[in-house]
Amino acid sequence: LNSPVHLSGGYAPPEGFPGSELAEIAREILRNHAAEALQYSELEGQVALRTRIAEWLSADGTPATFRDVNIVTGAKQALDLAARALAQPGDAWMSSEPTYVNAIRIFRRAGLKHLSVSNDEDGTRVDEIEEALARMARAGTPMPKFIYEIPDFHNPTGRVMSASRREKLVAVATKYEIPILEDNPYRWLRYDGSAVPPLGSFDKDRWVIGVGTFSKILTPGLRLGWIHAREDLRRRVMSFKADGGSSALVQMMVREYFHEPDALPRRLDRVTTVLRSKRDAMLRALTTSLGTVAEWSRPDGGYYFWLSVGSGVDTEALAPVAETDGVQFYPGSMYYSAPERGRQQIRLSFAHEPIDRMERGVTILRSHLVGVLSPA
Ligand SMILES: Cc1ncc(COP(=O)(O)O)c(C=O)c1O
Repeated sequence: LNSPVHLSGGYAPPEGFPGSELAEIAREILRNHAAEALQYSELEGQVALRTRIAEWLSADGTPATFRDVNIVTGAKQALDLAARALAQPGDAWMSSEPTYVNAIRIFRRAGLKHLSVSNDEDGTRVDEIEEALARMARAGTPMPKFIYEIPDFHNPTGRVMSASRREKLVAVATKYEIPILEDNPYRWLRYDGSAVPPLGSFDKDRWVIGVGTFSKILTPGLRLGWIHAREDLRRRVMSFKADGGSSALVQMMVREYFHEPDALPRRLDRVTTVLRSKRDAMLRALTTSLGTVAEWSRPDGGYYFWLSVGSGVDTEALAPVAETDGVQFYPGSMYYSAPERGRQQIRLSFAHEPIDRMERGVTILRSHLVGVLSPA
């Protein structure tokens, strides 16, 4: 009852979990198809599920067949495999900052160095990537082994990369033959406006390794995702997957859940309805409570608000204090490789908590920020 309000991790909204539907599906599969469901899966994943995913990607503007799509145990596994397949300890990866905390951690544990550029309202500053790569090429310094990118409803900033930057990013990666690791869990969680073409739609030579996940469109607990890539890149990444294949039962359940052709749009409708109202509720709460002490822009999709607070606050120091008082958030410093950055930023997730608790959390946060920023 008195647990802190959880505005921190990227937990999915439990209101949207299809527990009874999945229970029925699991029961039917276990009764009638136990031999397949309880066996090891093919390492590349089951063809029926890969075919369904390829259809979705193609409809979204990234041409795909089941052969290009392989199943993994969540997007984070794909990041882990790709880091080890594409780079050796001591090599570098490149992205804009702030960026996804677990990508930073996974790539750091693989022994990789981070080369970073900035991002703004239109996403990653591709001009900075282009300049950095040109400089490195001229100097003959080793190039990054891959470029990591979250183009849609970026974590943590919530921003969407513009179409022209997408086109440019693919062109630059193609020029230097550097794979782009595209991590896109939120692309289909859009609450306003219309979709920007995917990186894949510009990618004639196929330098994009797409990473997808069922965590945000269905549920994270199933631990299922996919990669989509050119054959040589896909094989290289998958050669590091040594876990006997992702769960056969879970693959069959997910495939069955998305059996009807309109199952994905129906599911997305349900998820986005829940999340849109939570996004709106958080926007109201922020406007009411934090209007004088913080700045943010409204995300059109995804899970997060990215707040900037005045320079009198150190959000990393504030986080544990606020948690004792009943609200958990992630300080901006988590989203940078260098911990001295991001100390005036806060990421808030509106996805997980019920609206009344979320409002309470924002009110508690206000008491801390107002106390620090406008001392009586
Ligand atoms: C950018 C990004 N990548 C990957 C993930 C996690 O994906 P998965 O649950 O499939 O490991 C998240 C979830 O928060 C995320 O925000």
